[in-house]
Amino acid sequence: MAEHKLELRENVGATDEFKVTPWEVSGAIDYDKLTRQFGTSRITPELKERLHKDYGSGLHHMLRRDFFFSHRDLDLVLKDHEQGKGFFLYTGRKPSKGMHIGHLVPMVLTKWLQERFKCNLYIEITDDEGFLHKKYEWEDVQAAAKDNVLDIIALGFDPERTFIFRNTEYVRNVYPLLLKAARKVTGSTVKAVFGFDDSTNVGLSMYPVYQTIPTFFEKKRCLIPCAIDQDPYWRIQRDIAEGLGYYKTAAIHSKFMPPLQGVTGKMSSSAGQETAILLTDDEKTVKNKINKYAFSGGRPSVEEHRKLGGDPDIDVPYQWLSIMFEPDDAKLKQVHDDYRSGKMLSGEMKALLIEKINAFLRDFREGKKGAAKDVDTFMYKGKLAKEMWARTYE
Ligand code: TYM
Repeated sequence: MAEHKLELRENVGATDEFKVTPWEVSGAIDYDKLTRQFGTSRITPELKERLHKDYGSGLHHMLRRDFFFSHRDLDLVLKDHEQGKGFFLYTGRKPSKGMHIGHLVPMVLTKWLQERFKCNLYIEITDDEGFLHKKYEWEDVQAAAKDNVLDIIALGFDPERTFIFRNTEYVRNVYPLLLKAARKVTGSTVKAVFGFDDSTNVGLSMYPVYQTIPTFFEKKRCLIPCAIDQDPYWRIQRDIAEGLGYYKTAAIHSKFMPPLQGVTGKMSSSAGQETAILLTDDEKTVKNKINKYAFSGGRPSVEEHRKLGGDPDIDVPYQWLSIMFEPDDAKLKQVHDDYRSGKMLSGEMKALLIEKINAFLRDFREGKKGAAKDVDTFMYKGKLAKEMWARTYE
């Protein structure tokens, strides 16, 4: 029993200024404080160097710009890679009706990592979690899962090295292992880590154990790209993994893409349609949302702006360009400097972001058109998918 206490901390991610849990992210997040509280490590320049060494297209901009900023055991993953032992990737998605561009952050980096390291990738679709949260009825959660799978396929993962699975379907292949893992996690642990109380349904209390299971899919180290809100699950995994004969999982954590209304908290589908850009938004909707809602670091009048300049640090359109939509460092710096000096106006910053997002979504919609025909490959018939359906975990 003592092993369960190794890495767990109560009330993690909660301070007077901000809160970061798998269910809630709010306030002005101090990411340094958060890494200390969670007990994770910052990604160092040395690790970044090792991540793209010998790789033609350089380091991904989300790593270059420290948007992925924290990790657990990334050094060991790279060591395993360098020694030829390899590793595998795992990420996931809780089905909901509207996937937004923030949800793509871990997916986009995962894709880069898969291309870079040519490794297997497991994508967990948590239809159980979605249902137990009581937000959706069974049919709705299944419909959302189906559509989210198409969204994910549209991003272009390697079909032979990627297995996408719904928890309620794949459970038959993992139930014995799930029970062995569940026996090692107490009610008081999930209460402390996730803030569950006596009114939480028992399904939800069990759910966190299932989220650890894909880290056991191979007898290699697992690397999980995700935003830092998911880290509490990995702390549980790291307390039980070795007792089950597996590696403690590694993880690589991003910050949060902020909502349109300002640089605090996170973009979230439950916070309302006007806070996020959804993957289903058409060009006009993107334009209207950004022009109407995006918090600007510009000055109240053009004269003042020209004289004093804008503040890119609090300007949501600039932040989104920096996080995701302007990969070219020189171009981003130009935008930054022009905005600071007052040469570039808020309207121009917004127009640039609108153009970039709409170009991205046009490509995405094209990808999604062809996705339905690939569902079978990713979920059942591709090389990795076939292997996974033939395998059971005891
Ligand atoms: P979900 O579906 O809420 O979110 C999917 C992934 O998106 C990240 N995320 C964000 N990243 C940056 N900015 C944002 N505004 C933002 N909002 C969400 C989340 O951190 C997550 O990585 N329980 C999980 C599903 C899951 C999973 C996993 C996630 C199952 N296994 C393994 C990551 C890795 C969930 O509810 O994610």
